[in-house]
Amino acid sequence: MRPVTGLSGRLLLMTVAFVMLVEVFVYAPSVARFRLDWLEARVSAAQLTVIALEATPDQSVTTELANRLLDQVGAHAIVVPPTATAVRRGIFRDMPPAMDLSLDLRSPGFFPLIADAFGTLLHSGDRVLWVQAEAPELAGGRIDLLLDEAPLRRAMIAFSWRILGLSLLISFLTAALVFVTLRWMIVRPLRDITRSILLFRENPEDATRIDAPAQRSDEIGIVHRELAAMEETVRQSLRQRARLAALGEAVTRINHDLRNILTTVSLLSDRLGASDDPEVRRVSPTLMAAIDRAVQLCQRTLDFARDGGPLLKRTRFPLADLVAELTPVLSAPDGRPFLVDNRVAPGVDLEADRDLVFRVLSNLGHNAAAAGATRLTVTAAAEGPDLAIEVGDDGPGLPPKAMANLFQPFAGAGRSGGTGLGLAIARELMRAHGGDIVLTQSDAAGTIFRLRLPAAADAGNRAA
Ligand SMILES: Nc1ncnc2c1ncn2[C@@H]1O[C@H](COP(=O)(O)OP(=O)(O)OP(=O)(O)O)[C@@H](O)[C@H]1O
Ligand SMILES: [Mg+2]
Repeated sequence: MRPVTGLSGRLLLMTVAFVMLVEVFVYAPSVARFRLDWLEARVSAAQLTVIALEATPDQSVTTELANRLLDQVGAHAIVVPPTATAVRRGIFRDMPPAMDLSLDLRSPGFFPLIADAFGTLLHSGDRVLWVQAEAPELAGGRIDLLLDEAPLRRAMIAFSWRILGLSLLISFLTAALVFVTLRWMIVRPLRDITRSILLFRENPEDATRIDAPAQRSDEIGIVHRELAAMEETVRQSLRQRARLAALGEAVTRINHDLRNILTTVSLLSDRLGASDDPEVRRVSPTLMAAIDRAVQLCQRTLDFARDGGPLLKRTRFPLADLVAELTPVLSAPDGRPFLVDNRVAPGVDLEADRDLVFRVLSNLGHNAAAAGATRLTVTAAAEGPDLAIEVGDDGPGLPPKAMANLFQPFAGAGRSGGTGLGLAIARELMRAHGGDIVLTQSDAAGTIFRLRLPAAADAGNRAA
């Protein structure tokens, strides 16, 4: 992993940046403090000088000594302002320069100090400062100094460089620690997880390639364990699928042959009706019905297997026409009248596989007829980008067994002679179209299934 694009590399750079950012906020007050300390050191040196001066008998010094004292303090003049009892005292150079800026150190505020400090740093000229400060040891309690700003500025710049160096050191040390910790705690385990995913992707069914998940209790550990659990589940369902596929293939083959055998049996048993034996004639309709049912069961199972992955032949067609074709194929089992109420407006178009949608509708229609309904009502309405088709009947509603296993192949048959495939096939076909089917009503008043299909591209569909 390249350090800068990787997670830890990026965090390294960010840590350096953040520490430097924090240092900027720390720097401002500390440089102001440094400046104040520097000035106060000069003030206390000046105070000592004045105290010493006051101890001399005539309170005067030679010019040479005065200059040496002023050099030590770093000032051009030290002045004690006059009080009620004393006159103005102090020591001065011969020709002190004129002051450029007056500073009062007696009650420094936090922000003014910071502003003054940056003022000193940003001012390139050699200003002369007049500093007024408290001097508790002196009679008047005050002392003034005249001094150059240049040495102060130089000291502040040196201080700033030290701070910068220190900040860089701190930030790189912190970042290095973060980098190492991160690699150890997150990046390495993440790589283990990635490797596990890659191995799984290469061969999902190979259980030997999976390493044991980490025993960590933190989020990474959870991810790792969950991943291992998920891989195991997927592996199992893949195995099961493979078995089911093999089984399905076998069932399909058996069904195919069985159907052909039964068709032959059915053809032969047709002749039984013409037998001379009255007993044979009596049982022959039951026998033929049973054989027919067996043939149908085989046929539907074959259809279901074939529908596993239908290839859609999408065309654009009016839904109303398709619904109209339902009438001839639907009939109630005992010959009662069965009516298809086609309420789909002529302008409603579908873009779908016509045969497959027809199979869905006829499956629903057959179910309604078989359940004892007398009327099938089909409506269609635009629903956002989709078309919602409702297929309702006036039958008795789904029996509990069918309700509990709704859309489950083979399990949902609630009537004798039912295979339990019709609804499962309907749902599979709808989903193959990118739509779906749901049961919206099932009670004594009837049953309504609602189908949703993506509408035709330039849909001029109107509610119907
Ligand atoms: N409109 C309906 N009214 C009442 N019951 C229904 C209706 N539609 C389905 N059912 C019940 O749901 C069960 C499942 O229907 P499904 O179409 O899946 O299977 P089937 O009709 O039993 O068999 P197949 O359609 O494969 O021949 C039916 O057996 C029936 O009991
Ligand atoms: Mg059915």
